[in-house]
Amino acid sequence: MRKPFIAGNWKMNKTLSEAEILVTELKEELAGITEVEIAICPPAVNLTRVYDLIKESNIKLGAQNMYWEEKGAFTGELSGAMLKEAGVSYVIIGHSERREYFAETDEGVNRKVRAAFNYGLTPIVCVGETLKEREEGKTNDKVRGQVKAALAGLDTGQVAELVIAYEPIWAIGTGRSATAGDANQVIGYIRDLVREDFGAAADKMRIQYGGSVKPDNIEELMAEEEIDGALVGGASLKANSFAEIVRGAMK
Ligand code: 13P
Repeated sequence: MRKPFIAGNWKMNKTLSEAEILVTELKEELAGITEVEIAICPPAVNLTRVYDLIKESNIKLGAQNMYWEEKGAFTGELSGAMLKEAGVSYVIIGHSERREYFAETDEGVNRKVRAAFNYGLTPIVCVGETLKEREEGKTNDKVRGQVKAALAGLDTGQVAELVIAYEPIWAIGTGRSATAGDANQVIGYIRDLVREDFGAAADKMRIQYGGSVKPDNIEELMAEEEIDGALVGGASLKANSFAEIVRGAMK
């Protein structure tokens, strides 16, 4: 049985004072929930403060990005060791916004994934197709390339621990979620791909759906066999909507 996993990707939202308010509300709303694993991914500058606030709670800390090098002259970047010491458990890698606006490549994603494991961080690897690719029937090809590249060189233990987030780009921030059935189909395909290379680890690995997840569509998504949780953007910025999504994942 895979434990449901709901993570909030705050993206470039919430100053320190705003983050403190949101986290305080979230701790209250989510207190006592153990059936679902919960993580929040605030902007890097607020990681340490958020960790102080949640370290005794059932909410885990995630980062939105990292660099693969250990240390040195890489202005503006953050290492795995820095994230680990800040209290980070999860790190989002290869989000479509980073691929699009910051020129991240499949090869870079793979280097980051391997680096994350070196520092005891669990990667949440994002994959997904554009609207054009979907319309041209290229969804499977796209995610196949992304998944195979991201997982290259990992061992089965790492793959079992890894999280993949299937986020169709056309569903991100648009209010237009994939249907639960479509999301389930692609996620099932991703699991088959991983099984080809890593066998039974594929059945331990959790795969989230992301893209306009809201309190009113989470239950339908979670009812699908292959969907193990959600990576939530906009709806994770308000305590009540994020908490409703977490509770929806428990049903
Ligand atoms: P939205 O939930 O705002 O569509 O964002 C999804 C996402 O990109 C999470 O990483």
